[in-house]
Amino acid sequence: MDKITFCMNTVLSDVHLLLPNTRHLMTRLNGVGQPVFISKLRLLKELGCSGSTPERTANGSPSSISKVPLDDGRDPDVVRRPRDACSDGERVCPTVLNQALGDSADGCEEEEEDEDEDGKDAPRDVITIEHTMATPLEDVGKQIWQGAFLLADFILSRPAEFQGATVLELGAGTGLTSVAMATQAKMVYCTDVGQDLLSMCERNMMLNQHLTEAKTSEVRVRQLDWNGENFCTDAEIPFSWTEEEVSDLHNGTSVIMAADVCYDDEVTDVFFKTLYRITSNLRNSSTIYVSIEKRFDFMLRHMDVACEAYIHFRRCMEDLCGMHDDKMEYRVEQVLSPIPQLLQYERVEHLELWKITAKQK
Ligand SMILES: C[S@@+](CC[C@H](N)C(=O)[O-])C[C@H]1O[C@@H](n2cnc3c(N)ncnc32)[C@H](O)[C@@H]1O
Repeated sequence: MDKITFCMNTVLSDVHLLLPNTRHLMTRLNGVGQPVFISKLRLLKELGCSGSTPERTANGSPSSISKVPLDDGRDPDVVRRPRDACSDGERVCPTVLNQALGDSADGCEEEEEDEDEDGKDAPRDVITIEHTMATPLEDVGKQIWQGAFLLADFILSRPAEFQGATVLELGAGTGLTSVAMATQAKMVYCTDVGQDLLSMCERNMMLNQHLTEAKTSEVRVRQLDWNGENFCTDAEIPFSWTEEEVSDLHNGTSVIMAADVCYDDEVTDVFFKTLYRITSNLRNSSTIYVSIEKRFDFMLRHMDVACEAYIHFRRCMEDLCGMHDDKMEYRVEQVLSPIPQLLQYERVEHLELWKITAKQK
């Protein structure tokens, strides 16, 4: 397979387009016949290390983390592919993502790493994620999105904030953010919809067990459809909840997170309804982190570019804060403090992180 091509009517995450690579690591076909790829996302700092100490391997030599070039601000100096490399008329030709970069002259060579199927022998500075590449809109969760990287960076850079917490992720997709959260939290309920997606997500949790082995944290991949009113507790249905889990979620959750889930007005509406329903049923106050990529699209209706999904997202947050409710009150603020980049990806300019505080009155 020399070059993979996709038609323009599929959706392709920037993450998979912008990173250079030389190898196509397709591992299998998923339950609906889509090719599944595997990406090794190298952490620029080993988990649990302080930022100033040079990272070392068990035998004391500098680890491969230090091979990643950093710019003046200590962010990774990501090699960008020339923008015109993709201008092929009707088709786009993505370079398949594999971020386990070696030390080759062009920075694009893959490192050979010895690890077994369940990822137990994987290095502690690598997150392994299975994902598909270009998908129809209804399967976007099978790709990795920029918002997941930003949220993962935020979590990994603030370990103390999430230590020992019970966390719910909504619209987790491949589960990258839950993997990051599992390195800190006590329990992560990683949720989305669709058996095929949830199976891939669960496999990603297995592939990253090595990051949490020493801790007592746990990730449970569960189905949570924002269009449904209740948690599915039918034991016959895969990824359903037990009554104990539902009760643990309601009694213990203090953090809710969601990456790149507000890309369509209808989806955004049900997401905010779900957020209200869940937060108002929690025993305690909670903090919600939502990452969003402000996407500018050409709107025929206006004959201009607009970021309508983002505007709708902001409107929904205003509505949440302005709501006259005798049970709950919400406060919203953008996270403006710099978020160190700990994962290697091209952080686009229009990526934002928002914090919502939900308080019982
Ligand atoms: C753009 S993807 C983001 C995936 C992942 N968070 C990331 O950033 O890589 C949006 C996610 O929202 C999920 N989603 C959309 N509608 C949903 C619904 N009604 N209930 C639950 N999840 C939903 C999708 O399945 C998908 O995983």
